[in-house]
Amino acid sequence: MAKTVLLTGSSGFIGGYLVEELLAQGYKVIGVDNFSKYGMVHRSYDSDPNYELVHGDAKDMQLLSKTLIREQCDHFIAGAAMIGGISYFHKFAFDLMAENERILASSFEAAIAAYNHGSLKKITAMSSSMIYENTTTWPSKEGDERHVAPPESTYGFEKLAVHYFCQGALEQYQLPYTICIPFNCIGVGESRAKTDIDIKSGNVSLAMSHVVPDLIQKILKGQDPLHILGEGNQIRHYTYGVDLAKGIVASLENPAAVNESFNLATKEGHTVLELAQIIWKKINGDKPFAYVSDAPFDYDVQKRVPDVSKAKDVLGWEADTSLDAALDKVIPWIEEQVAKGTI
Ligand SMILES: NC(=O)c1ccc[n+]([C@@H]2O[C@H](COP(=O)([O-])OP(=O)(O)OC[C@H]3O[C@@H](n4cnc5c(N)ncnc54)[C@H](O)[C@@H]3O)[C@@H](O)[C@H]2O)c1
Repeated sequence: MAKTVLLTGSSGFIGGYLVEELLAQGYKVIGVDNFSKYGMVHRSYDSDPNYELVHGDAKDMQLLSKTLIREQCDHFIAGAAMIGGISYFHKFAFDLMAENERILASSFEAAIAAYNHGSLKKITAMSSSMIYENTTTWPSKEGDERHVAPPESTYGFEKLAVHYFCQGALEQYQLPYTICIPFNCIGVGESRAKTDIDIKSGNVSLAMSHVVPDLIQKILKGQDPLHILGEGNQIRHYTYGVDLAKGIVASLENPAAVNESFNLATKEGHTVLELAQIIWKKINGDKPFAYVSDAPFDYDVQKRVPDVSKAKDVLGWEADTSLDAALDKVIPWIEEQVAKGTI
């Protein structure tokens, strides 16, 4: 019989990739989303008989626990959260912490109830590379978050709390867990949030302020010189959504993944300036590259570099899509969205 996964935040950016991968691997998927980020979105798998979408709130513990128990879910991937790019962290510094803590509390309570009932195997929780925000040594290894100073941003702090929710639920209720720690997911499907505000970056508004879609849309709109945030020395590991989804799914059934956390990232790092030059060349060809630096945001981490060996050794997973190949998927999609006026 097909295994069943309940996924909150299923209409989101990573959710889209995850549902596709789960269905491809033969899982039955029940998605729960309140459409707070993008409104109602349509996906290729909407009519797949193994997919069911529930319009509901991840803070609704009764909805989650009843669904987990009624549908005999084997897995619960707790993906729903208030999250966005760097301007979002700053704009919703309080709201996202209050909301995400409530989502976590109800998700874990529901998982504990379903685990006690006997159907659920474990909870899979989503952390973030922002837990390592204050590190002074690289690469960041799973567990470093216990030794470096806590994150400066409320988003990073709230993601660190994910680890303690897992710890508490295991210690008190023996609920097994796996924590996935994604680094800078890139891909298609991340459109403008309903709550986005217009922040000017040169003559163009920042797109969601996630750096990849932002730079692409500015270059597509002809910005020259290109505006980048800060000096452009920030290092990121841009991880393709398809790869990330495979990593999360690889952790579901692996017994060695129980009560463990995994950095899910490509081993390839790039500075923002390098990224900007690569995108510029892909769109503008040989036109000489020119840029200016705008003032950076407060919580603009200079270096986020993962140690990816644990996911490789334990899960047998590596993010092997190059930035170049991922951009060849993302650029045409952003071009389409710019033409439609959604970005
Ligand atoms: N995108 C990244 O690079 C990244 C990196 C690290 C961690 N993460 C984590 O991965 C998860 C998914 O991120 P994403 O980039 O897909 O974000 P996203 O904003 O695209 O998707 C989140 C989804 O959750 C939904 N949602 C929010 N609050 C909800 C609620 N109360 N009830 C039901 N649904 C709700 C939103 O409508 C949205 O569809 C989050 O937990 C995030 O913190 C993302």
